[in-house]
Amino acid sequence: DSTIRATSAPSSPSTAIAEPEGIKINSIPTKPFEGQKTGTSGLRKKVKVFTQENYLANWIQALFNSLPPEDYKNGLLVLGGDGRYFNREAAQIIIKIAAGNGVGKILVGKEGILSTPAVSAVIRKQKANGGFIMSASHNPGGPEYDWGIKFNYSSGQPAPESITDKIYGNTLSISEIKIADVPDVDLSKVGVTKFGSFSVEVIDPVSDYLELLETVFDFQLIKGLLSRPDFRFIFDAMHAVTGAYAKPIFVDKLGASLDSISNGIPLEDFGHGHPDPNLTYAKDLVNILYAENGPDFGAASDGDGDRNMILGRSFFVTPSDSVAVIAANTEAIPYFKNGVKGLARSMPTSGALDRVAEKLSLPFFEVPTGWKFFGNLMDAGNLSVCGEESFGTGSDHIREKDGIWAVLAWLSIIAHRNKDKKPGEKLISVSDVVKEHWATYGRNFFSRYDYEECESEGANKMIEYLRDIVSKSKAGDKYGSYVLQFADDFTYTDPVDGSVVSKQGVRFVFTDGSRIIYRLSGTGSAGATVRVYIEQFEPDVSKHDVEAQIALKPLIDLAISVSKLKDFTGREQPTVIT
Ligand code: G6P
Ligand code: ZN
Repeated sequence: DSTIRATSAPSSPSTAIAEPEGIKINSIPTKPFEGQKTGTSGLRKKVKVFTQENYLANWIQALFNSLPPEDYKNGLLVLGGDGRYFNREAAQIIIKIAAGNGVGKILVGKEGILSTPAVSAVIRKQKANGGFIMSASHNPGGPEYDWGIKFNYSSGQPAPESITDKIYGNTLSISEIKIADVPDVDLSKVGVTKFGSFSVEVIDPVSDYLELLETVFDFQLIKGLLSRPDFRFIFDAMHAVTGAYAKPIFVDKLGASLDSISNGIPLEDFGHGHPDPNLTYAKDLVNILYAENGPDFGAASDGDGDRNMILGRSFFVTPSDSVAVIAANTEAIPYFKNGVKGLARSMPTSGALDRVAEKLSLPFFEVPTGWKFFGNLMDAGNLSVCGEESFGTGSDHIREKDGIWAVLAWLSIIAHRNKDKKPGEKLISVSDVVKEHWATYGRNFFSRYDYEECESEGANKMIEYLRDIVSKSKAGDKYGSYVLQFADDFTYTDPVDGSVVSKQGVRFVFTDGSRIIYRLSGTGSAGATVRVYIEQFEPDVSKHDVEAQIALKPLIDLAISVSKLKDFTGREQPTVIT
């Protein structure tokens, strides 16, 4: 018999860590699976991969094998997800393995629902040791599509690479899974279920998160805007997790009309959609905002609620501009009333934010792609507002990017600008705010070209080829009409803990501030996705109204020819342009 009784384990008087009592723990033999290495944010694979016997269980056990026992024994963990297919079964597996490893209590979102920012908020508020997020973010869901799992630490921030590397190491040698012999927990009702010394509490997914947001923003100010007859708002939850948050927050608390929420019910397959808020995948919303007499404000969030897209009437706010505008307008947000500690962006994100930091004399940081790199800066008290070109924006109220936070930040700015406007007076619009920002700071034209699901070999060779060019390049080299300032493969030294990460993206920076950056995505689940980021600074206001694709055309052509992208990938056109 391979079962062990935890209660019969000898207790050591020298340690306060107790084994779970009153539940039977089974030890199940297992064999390693290859390829359980986590990417930019967690482990993401096809559902069919995760549903292979013990595949998920192995990873969860490997995680417990990687954490110091004091980080989970008798501890409190949080569990939730974006509502995608397989979450319900996965939740039961995770609960049982957590119990089997001596976790004291798990807080689970009702129906297994908790957005990524909500998990971060709950971990912090409830002083949990950490939490699991069952999500493959914006990747499609359903039996044929993706599933994923992320682990966040006690500050609410994604586990650092030192931990995820350890987990991966342990997946390669795993031989045993410790699982509690307890029945499935009913996740449909809020309340506590006890199994001996272990308990599961099903929580409302919205309340802790909403409570936090109410301390960040002036809800009365936003409510004033949303109840104006001359301001029309629309939020697209893309059939994903923010559907669970949109009505309680925008409608019940802030007075938006019920029909301002579209696709507001989370579905296991996101309604066959691709829940990624950008110009391609949130096309329905874009069409509504660009239609004649469309609404004044539109926003969308992704599968797990951490990304956002902001639109005005016939106007798209690039994520790079969005974070810069928020940083320049923090007076509209009570959370920042005692000042802003610092600003940060990921390396490929445009330099619009840099100009705000300079003008406001704020500390500024450039980190690699991946929200986890902001966490240390926040914990050290050096960072308040940050963002990424990949539709992530947020602040140090939690340790994840936050889609609904970004929407509320923008609503606050618009509300603040219009608070003295009488009925019938023309309101200052989203595009007015952005254009005024450009007039003050200059415009950083920005675009990203994605080539999804390329052959890995060709994509890797292209990056190697670019690294080779970098190694031979020198300041002053001519690229058409552009003069090279420097080229490198981005290396980051964390100013807080001194850790170094290298090979974070090949960049060519030109003397006029223009940049071309190449990276392979760390979040895909099949093949390789090549990302090319193109940026050009334009101080001249008379040129600010040009379409980004037109303004950037020469630089885009240069980016494609310098990298021999078409030869290496065989692709004539990108799959997505943002
Ligand atoms: C996730 C991370 C982000 C990151 C994004 C893009 O959403 O949370 O921080 O910017 O992935 O990653 P990728 O490697 O696909 O460009
Ligand atoms: Zn996401």
